[in-house]
Amino acid sequence: MSAGNGNGAGSGNGNGAGSGNGHQATLRLRLRIWRQAGPDEPGAFLDVDAPGIPEDCSFLEMLDIVNERLIEDDVEPVVFAHDCREGICGTCGVMINGRPHGPEKATATCQLHMRKFRDGDEIVIEPFRAASFPVVKDLMVDRRAFDRIIESGGFISAPTGTAPDANEIPVPKDVADFAMDAAACIGCGACVAACPNSAAQLFTAAKLGHLNVLPQGQPERWRRAEAMVETMESFFGSCTNHGECTEACPKEISLDFIAVLNRDYLKAKVKNRRLASQA
Ligand code: FES
Repeated sequence: MSAGNGNGAGSGNGNGAGSGNGHQATLRLRLRIWRQAGPDEPGAFLDVDAPGIPEDCSFLEMLDIVNERLIEDDVEPVVFAHDCREGICGTCGVMINGRPHGPEKATATCQLHMRKFRDGDEIVIEPFRAASFPVVKDLMVDRRAFDRIIESGGFISAPTGTAPDANEIPVPKDVADFAMDAAACIGCGACVAACPNSAAQLFTAAKLGHLNVLPQGQPERWRRAEAMVETMESFFGSCTNHGECTEACPKEISLDFIAVLNRDYLKAKVKNRRLASQA
């Protein structure tokens, strides 16, 4: 099935050449977009001819253009998740030519620009593929399994209204930097989609790591480590050190955090058991 008549945003003739006279360069793309009506429905690719795509638009803006054309052709628009469109919220991830978030390193789907592609390119767009991320519709997946991990321990307990000002607690610079690097995780799920085991170690390690190294995270450190890792294991596959997760991560979360997770989990098993036996 083909959609798109070339009269949406962008005015190019599909040859992709920059004219240098004030006209915006455009691309003609061949898109293969995954369409799936629901989690239990069979899916299939929709082939879309997409001329006149401005080079300077983002990947999501390109999908907006495609959707406007589909609507004009009385075809249901493609469902995809997005919110901030600034690489912050983590909702926008899709597989682009087999890679989570596409070809650019350290770049979320919403930050990817069409100038990274060439005129005539075929682009295959699919949802993140993982059993724990069932397809909601088309390119949108359900990532609530991540929420279950956070709910199990990805927080600190401080009664509302009585929490001390965080600036009153000194934190060494190297510890603060380590925590901030972990906190850069936007929870997009690219790590899971890239992993051959669909493991969520990098996500969990980032969420665990930024709390477990800070003073505010110490009272619940060992309970948190055990709970988050075991919740993770109930939803996701196991890490076998492929390292694909960090390669796909738009925030370049380091594998070092997985080492911290493994260390804290082993310590937590011992400490929590000892505490239980003393209770
Ligand atoms: S839409 Fe928020 S990170 Fe892409």
